[in-house]
Amino acid sequence: MGKISDAFERHQKEKVVKTVQLPIGKPEKPPGKEPGLAPAPESIIQKGISPKLVVLSAPESIDAENFKVLKSQILFPKEGEVPRTIMVTSAFPGEGKTFVAANLAVSLALGINEYVLLVDCDLRKPHLNRMLGYSNTEGLHEYLTGKRELSDLIVHTRIKKLSLLVGGRPSPHPGELLASTRMKDFLQEVKDRYQDRFIILDATPSQITAETNVLANYVDKIIFVVMAQKSPRETIQKSIENFGKKKILGIVFNGYRQAHKPYHKYYKKHYG
Ligand SMILES: Nc1ncnc2c1ncn2[C@@H]1O[C@H](COP(=O)(O)OP(=O)(O)OP(=O)(O)O)[C@@H](O)[C@H]1O
Ligand SMILES: [Mg+2]
Repeated sequence: MGKISDAFERHQKEKVVKTVQLPIGKPEKPPGKEPGLAPAPESIIQKGISPKLVVLSAPESIDAENFKVLKSQILFPKEGEVPRTIMVTSAFPGEGKTFVAANLAVSLALGINEYVLLVDCDLRKPHLNRMLGYSNTEGLHEYLTGKRELSDLIVHTRIKKLSLLVGGRPSPHPGELLASTRMKDFLQEVKDRYQDRFIILDATPSQITAETNVLANYVDKIIFVVMAQKSPRETIQKSIENFGKKKILGIVFNGYRQAHKPYHKYYKKHYG
């Protein structure tokens, strides 16, 4: 079934990293409109939050279920400590990094105990704010250039336990800023200041920007997103080797079609 599936099979066999697959498509129905779907709580679905936040807009969808799988892999790792700083990246643009970072952050924040800080580390195209219905006036860029204090920039979102640091104005020097010591100190500071908090970083594509490879050194784990039919197998392999297999928390295979299989079969095949 093509390169992506081959790569998936191989990773499954080698048990190198855990994988989650997300079918692509329009977000399911708006919250509460689909028969059988539990209506999303009014308090968290507000005007401006993107319907692409499937963990809210379609909480019983396969997508949302897959984010729960990813979340449990974070909360209950088979080896090592629970990772606190997690970077979401992919080889190329448009593979679904922002989609995954935002949905994962919300999914974690909807848990009983988990607090989350979601950070837009894409200073070239800072768009993460749109997923949560915020504007992108000032954020990480302004902090890294010393213009604003962190406490002025972190927003407590309408989703309880989820804070957001948007990217701010697009930077003419994103690589330098994100690879700077100030960025490293920023991560250490938020880790120290918010010890009970998961910090999810929405990063740039690793094959075309240098900063992601530097950022990789500053985080505990990496989630690597692969859009079906987009990244050649060799590129995925090279990227994983570059980061080091131990750094990879999981691969999200995005845009994977289920070919009309009932959900339980799909689940059994891949996770059973
Ligand atoms: N599984 C999915 N289901 C529905 N829509 C998706 C899915 N994955 C990605 N998309 C949509 O595809 C588009 C590209 O995704 P996204 O912006 O998350 O990619 P990206 O990797 O962050 O891109 P960039 O490298 O430009 O930052 C967006 O409109 C996003 O909402
Ligand atoms: Mg993005």
